[in-house]
Order: sequence, then structure tokens, then C-alpha cells
Amino acid sequence: MLNNLKAQAPDALLALIKLHAEDERSDKIDLGVGVYRTGDGDTPVFAAIKGAEQRLVDQQDSKSYLGPEGDMGFVNAMAPYVFGSDATKGGRIQGMQTPGGTGAVRLAAALAQAAGAKRVHFGVPSWPNHAQIFDDLELEKAPFTHATDSGEADLDAVLNAIASATAEDTVLLHGCCHNPTGIDYTAEQWVAIADALANSPALPILDIAYQGLGRGLEEDVAGVRAVLKAIPQAVIAYSCDKNFGMYRDRVGALYMMAEKPDQLATITSNANALARASWSMPPDHGGAAVRVILRDADLTKLWLDELETMRLRMRDVREQLAAADNAVPGLGLAGLADQNGLFAILPLSKDQIQDMRSKHAIYMAGSGRINIAGLHDGNIEKFINALADVTG
Ligand code: LMR
Repeated sequence: MLNNLKAQAPDALLALIKLHAEDERSDKIDLGVGVYRTGDGDTPVFAAIKGAEQRLVDQQDSKSYLGPEGDMGFVNAMAPYVFGSDATKGGRIQGMQTPGGTGAVRLAAALAQAAGAKRVHFGVPSWPNHAQIFDDLELEKAPFTHATDSGEADLDAVLNAIASATAEDTVLLHGCCHNPTGIDYTAEQWVAIADALANSPALPILDIAYQGLGRGLEEDVAGVRAVLKAIPQAVIAYSCDKNFGMYRDRVGALYMMAEKPDQLATITSNANALARASWSMPPDHGGAAVRVILRDADLTKLWLDELETMRLRMRDVREQLAAADNAVPGLGLAGLADQNGLFAILPLSKDQIQDMRSKHAIYMAGSGRINIAGLHDGNIEKFINALADVTG
């Protein structure tokens, strides 16, 4: 039977990690997969995580099973950061742990499908795995344009998508630090989106994978909170992989918001059943470490300081790239200072992206996406010179 299988192309983004690793040039630059790097190009374990892990080693007394919902201590401790002080909205929100943000998006889409969704509206370009997940679930994709040519979020496109959505549709929105464009909706645009969703029968899926890496921890979820205030129901996919640097430990959560508190048990029972049939229960370690941090004032402060350092470093790189706008005209570098998070898209052709790789050992996604955090004082000049070379 296995002979029936057709070879699949490797995931392009993950394949880039390997290509970069195999390149022997010492001045190579990795702007591919979305991991944070320090000014020295490292991706260290957060000190707050090290502290929490030490406590787990010393104090964890069992590795017996939890349920499909995972570590609810972690899920509940994270919720106020996402939703604010009334984190359950009067008993209307409940979460569960998932294997990373991918697990959360997958479960969100599967739950929507179980509830009757047939189609997903989402802005493109998007995180490539969104489309792969929808394809795998055989949900129909209804893409709309995320950003205009002038580098702003395309409000008309999202409002039109919402207006056309039916009771068998979901609308997926990135909460902040849009992947791959870095272009987020403004506060005013979020209000318009919230109004439109309030008048739509579609179920919103809100994907938050980069809280704290854009404008600040609270600022990055202000748009999502405005939406949740206006609408009766939503599912929220959340990732701690980036803002706790836990990538390979796969730390995520799915939060579900019901119209009325007494509907929540039915909704979460469906999510639990879907999780049980997929991964049974999420990996524990990372979620447990985040729980330890968030229940301890000193570790929480350490985490917030580390997160803010990351955020400010990426803002600094964005400013430096924006300042180079005149050196490489036509790429819209000036706009990068107004964008958020790890990513930006540069309008390079396939050949130019290939030249960046072959001539300059600079690795970026085939879409022209760069990981801002891959740049630092030691390589940003080389990067700008390389851009000038391949576009000149
Ligand atoms: C990325 O977009 O680079 C990250 O979200 C990593 C991933 O899983 O694709």
C-alpha cells in the first residue's frame, strides 16, 4: 500500500534551515525560519525558563498523564495576559493546552469544522502552514488580500470577506506581528473589523503567535480584545513558542469563547475529543515551565524583561533597515519601521532571492520574507549591500 504514495516536497521553510546549515561560508546569514536571535546571532534559552526548569527538576513529583486539556495551570495563568483582567469573560472563555501554536490552529480549524464550517477566509500572503492545515482538513480556502501595494493592511479586503461570509464560514485573523508581512491592522481598523464581525454569522479564528514582540504585551492584543468585546463567539489560537523562546518544546493553547457560560462545556468537550484523537494530550514540559514562571513574581519579571529586550532589539533593526531606504530604493525599506514582529516581506524576484543565497550566502524564504531578528550590527551592512547588488 505504501507504494501508492507520491513524494511530497519538503516544507520550504523547514528545508531552508537545512540548506543554511549545510552552507560552509562563514559569513552566511539566516533570515529564514522565525526564531529570535540576539545581537550575537544566538537563540538562547530564556533565563526565566532555565529558572523554571530547575524548579521542575527539583520539585516535579510525577510525570503521570494529564488529560487532553494538558496543564490547566499554564492555560489559566496565561489567559489574563491575552484577555485582560476579566480573563474568562464571566465564565465564557476556557482554554486547553496544545502542541505549539500549530496544534492550536489545527484544533481551532478542526473544531470549527466539527461545528459546521466548510470554508476559511484568510488574508494572503499568510503563514504557509495555514493553507496546509486547511487543505489537510479539506476546508475550502477563501483568500483575500492582506496588504495593499503601499504597505498598509487592506481594510476593504477584510471587510468584504467578512461581509460575504456565511454561517458555514470562519474568518482567520492574525492577532499581531503579521506573518509574513509584519503589517498589522491599526486600532481604528480593528474597530471596523470588530463591527463587521459583530454583524456576521461567521466564526472568527484569532491566531496570536507573537504577543509581546510587536508594540508591547498589552498593545499587541488590543485589537483582539476589541474584537472579543464585540462578538459572541470565537476561538483563539495562542503560541508561547516565540514569546517564551520554547520553539521545540511546543507550547500553545486554544481558548474558546462561548456566547453563554453554559455552552462552554459542550464546546470544550468537542475540542477535548478532537485532541484525544490527534495527539491524545500535549507535551507537558514547556507548558509546566511557563506555569512556574507566571506563578512566581520574580520569574515573571525576568521573563517580561527578556521579552522586552527582544522586542526593542527588533525595533532597532527595523529602524536601521528603514534608514537604509535611500541606499536600496524600491524595496519599501522605510515602511519596515512601522511594521511589527519578526517578519517583513521584500518585493524581490525569485532570481534575486536565489542570488542573495548563491552570491551572498543570505537565506530568506522564497516569498521574500525575512526574519528581522537574523540581522544585527555585525551583518546588517552586508545584508543591505547584498540587496543593492541583487537589485542594482
Ligand atoms: C515561521 O513562520 O517561521 C514560524 O512560525 C515557524 C513555523 O513553524 O513555520
